[in-house]
Amino acid sequence: MPVSLEPSLDRETETKFPYTEADIGRTELTPSYRVELRNPHPAELDRFIEVDQVKDWSLLQWKEIGKPYQVDDMAKGWKRWKAEAGQEMSVKTSWEHFNRSFHEWFVKDVPHELRETKHSLKQHLARFRWSEVKTGLSDYLKLSLWNYVQRVEDGVWDPRGKRALFQGLDLEKPRILFLGAAEGYEAMQLSAMYPGGEVVLVDYDAFCKTDRYGSFPETYPFLGSNPSTGGPGVWYKEQMNIHYIVDDIRNLSFGQEFDVVLSVGLLEHFPDKHKPEAIDWHRRFLKPGGYAILTTPRDQLKSRLYYKIMADVMNYTYRELMNIRQMGLYLYENGFDILRHGIIKVHNGIVAQPR
Ligand SMILES: C[S@@+](CC[C@H](N)C(=O)[O-])C[C@H]1O[C@@H](n2cnc3c(N)ncnc32)[C@H](O)[C@@H]1O
Repeated sequence: MPVSLEPSLDRETETKFPYTEADIGRTELTPSYRVELRNPHPAELDRFIEVDQVKDWSLLQWKEIGKPYQVDDMAKGWKRWKAEAGQEMSVKTSWEHFNRSFHEWFVKDVPHELRETKHSLKQHLARFRWSEVKTGLSDYLKLSLWNYVQRVEDGVWDPRGKRALFQGLDLEKPRILFLGAAEGYEAMQLSAMYPGGEVVLVDYDAFCKTDRYGSFPETYPFLGSNPSTGGPGVWYKEQMNIHYIVDDIRNLSFGQEFDVVLSVGLLEHFPDKHKPEAIDWHRRFLKPGGYAILTTPRDQLKSRLYYKIMADVMNYTYRELMNIRQMGLYLYENGFDILRHGIIKVHNGIVAQPR
């Protein structure tokens, strides 16, 4: 059961689950992320998504919408590895580098690091150490950007946008499969909205299970529903029925047994000739009538800038930025009907079913 509005929680429960239904409506900044319990009711979420721009996907053509933008500023770490190894980095190794690099940012005490970086920058300036000044400025820029994107705007996890995308599905106690799950955030958000089922997270990088998911804050409250009241409810990672599989998606032996197959930031890492295979992964494990839910980063000026400034953190793999029409056409062409498509803060989102 979710953490309900109890008059007296014991101290242990209070520390473990710091937010209850009494906190619904609140938002708060922690040093690493935003707690977001505002907008509990579905109608309030409508403004966090721009939905259903395309009326008939069969009329859309590539020559009209163009192909996605390819991000080509690769991380320094990627270039160094390649030079030292004298070979290309394999896709799996690229993901291992990415996950370690990206994870560091989720666990930062951002205000503290901003203060520290500013302080040492002033010292380097006073001593005319130009090379350190340059590095310090670049670190300060990245930290300020991350502070804005992840903490202030909550653009990475974007719980209100994700809830707007996930709402209104015909699901009861669903089995949810998350492909390329990393820390598993979106499957936990889905599970909070449609509780009582099972979540299976799959990622072939073991670090994702041990560290990205393993250290995902147990005190992070997910706003979802409370089946015993029919109203909103607050859920925590530990209260969900989650299994983490470390394996290549291509090795999964599941049949068509999931109500939802989900991926977040996966499709854009496949060049066009490999997209049919990646899209097929979303069909293969779905029950008849189940939903494939995918999101990909949007092609917008601020996202292009983000991947430029954060290149050393993010860019270890092939990566595209696309718009919702391009994303939808890939899915439509590969045999999916698009039930709902929309734009949230930094991602496109689609709910689809095999045709
Ligand atoms: C871009 S990440 C997902 C975005 C995620 N929300 C994040 O914050 O990083 C894609 C994930 O898919 C995993 N992945 C890619 N190809 C895979 C495959 N064939 N089998 C299993 N996992 C895979 C990678 O290890 C990576 O963790």
